[in-house]
Amino acid sequence: MKFIHLTDTHIVGNSRLLYGINPAQRLREAITSIKTENADADFVVITGDLTHWGDDAAYKALAKELERLAVSVILVVGNHDDTPAFRTFFPDAMRDEHGFVQGSLQTDFAKCLFLDTTIPRTDQGMYCEKRQAWLKDELERYNGPILLFMHHPPFSVGIPGMDEIMLEDSNAFYDAIKSHAGRIRHLFFGHVHRPIFGNWRGISFSCMRGTNHQVACDTLNSTKNILGNLEEPAYGIVLLEEDQVTIHMHEYRKRSPEFRLDAPEGGDARSYMFGMRHEGGID
Ligand SMILES: [Fe+2]
Repeated sequence: MKFIHLTDTHIVGNSRLLYGINPAQRLREAITSIKTENADADFVVITGDLTHWGDDAAYKALAKELERLAVSVILVVGNHDDTPAFRTFFPDAMRDEHGFVQGSLQTDFAKCLFLDTTIPRTDQGMYCEKRQAWLKDELERYNGPILLFMHHPPFSVGIPGMDEIMLEDSNAFYDAIKSHAGRIRHLFFGHVHRPIFGNWRGISFSCMRGTNHQVACDTLNSTKNILGNLEEPAYGIVLLEEDQVTIHMHEYRKRSPEFRLDAPEGGDARSYMFGMRHEGGID
């Protein structure tokens, strides 16, 4: 099966710009790409920072854009979101017994658990004891493969400014999942606006670029400033099988020429490359 990992859409209301670009337009382009290039996806998940200011106009604009998707969309909240405003426009969104935006989805190959790591009006993440209890219960009620989705990573990623606002008390979070860690097949997160892949205490993880703006790859920053940039947005195409999770990062706005790499020598590919060289495009 296939699903799409979008993150950090940062929608603003009334067609305003954010860092010089239109987040709703960027999401619209992502949705067009999903509908045309990945129409066989089973669902789309957005791992938080759905909006930039958490205001009604932004959630209204987000709802309007998401209407175009033919598949179900699972919405996770991030530090830029406001849960009461979010619920006004998405009354059917996930909700646990305490009102946190948490829920699960059983697929053919894994149970997906969507976590709420937000603290109101704070950029850092948190996973409190109430939320941990929900997660432990979900993990104990199912003994098959698990996928985790959350906005804040429960670990540092080597970018000091972002590590300052990761999930606080990652050891407590790990304690909540450690007895099931061996069957957590992957952890998807957002927040960092970068393509990041790795492994945390045996659990593989990935983050995608946002659909609007990005965080610069600034691992040497000693001032803990957070530098943004306008690198290409992307979403993740996740292929899920019984024994494998495969993630492709798709820069959906890029319009690169395509050519056959498997053409016989002297065929399409060679003549294309030769042509580019003479135009000064490749050297
Ligand atoms: Fe974000």
